[in-house]
Amino acid sequence: MGKDVIIACDFSGKRQVFDFLDKLGEQRPYLKIGMELFYAEGPQIVRELKARGHKVFLDLKLCDIPNTVKKAMSVLRDLDADMVNLHAFGTIDMMKAALEGLTRPDGTRPLLIAVTQLTSTSEERMQRELLIGRPLPEVVIQYAKNAQAAGLDGVVCSPLEAGSVHEACGGGFLAVTPGVRFAEGDAGDQVRVTTPEKARQLGSDYIVVGRPITASSDPAAAYARCMKDFVE
Ligand code: C5P
Repeated sequence: MGKDVIIACDFSGKRQVFDFLDKLGEQRPYLKIGMELFYAEGPQIVRELKARGHKVFLDLKLCDIPNTVKKAMSVLRDLDADMVNLHAFGTIDMMKAALEGLTRPDGTRPLLIAVTQLTSTSEERMQRELLIGRPLPEVVIQYAKNAQAAGLDGVVCSPLEAGSVHEACGGGFLAVTPGVRFAEGDAGDQVRVTTPEKARQLGSDYIVVGRPITASSDPAAAYARCMKDFVE
């Protein structure tokens, strides 16, 4: 599977998304639709972006009892997204149910990946607030193994963890990695960050890049730089 840059479209409405996409001209990058945009515009935004020729990663991070997640996934499967996710925290049973719900009658389905620990979470907070006493890398690997046991395609993790995820789960198991910043950029609320070039060296399969592109004064140049550093 080829590496790609996924732009996180963290906008509050469709208008802002299309204004942003206009700045990219004829390019049709892989886009991530998160909660903000999905809750604002509804499922139609996924259909519209697909119709314009974009691949779509639907980042809704589902986490609930297995039956509820299964039913929600069976609604999402008809949107024709290319990738969907959930929280590995919801357990192996929940992930298996999600996979069942996402699989269409003809056996096809979007890729399904699991969030391990959010890249905004530090080990110190995870231990102090969530009472998960183990080292963060160990927790990420355990959640990745759980996702693999459930039949998922990969995980969302920090680029810094991509290598160990591949070691534990094999090279074909996807590491989709947010927390990417240009060397001179502001990390913002992200904690476990690295550059596109470093993410490539560390073995990320897809990088998810938001503000370094969307908040740039020249988004086309920022996207081109990510593609050059990560893909080419
Ligand atoms: O703007 P920035 O590059 O930080 O955007 C990163 C995107 O990736 C956001 O949409 C965020 O919700 C998402 N994400 C993340 N960490 C995860 C999973 C998703 O930052 N573990």
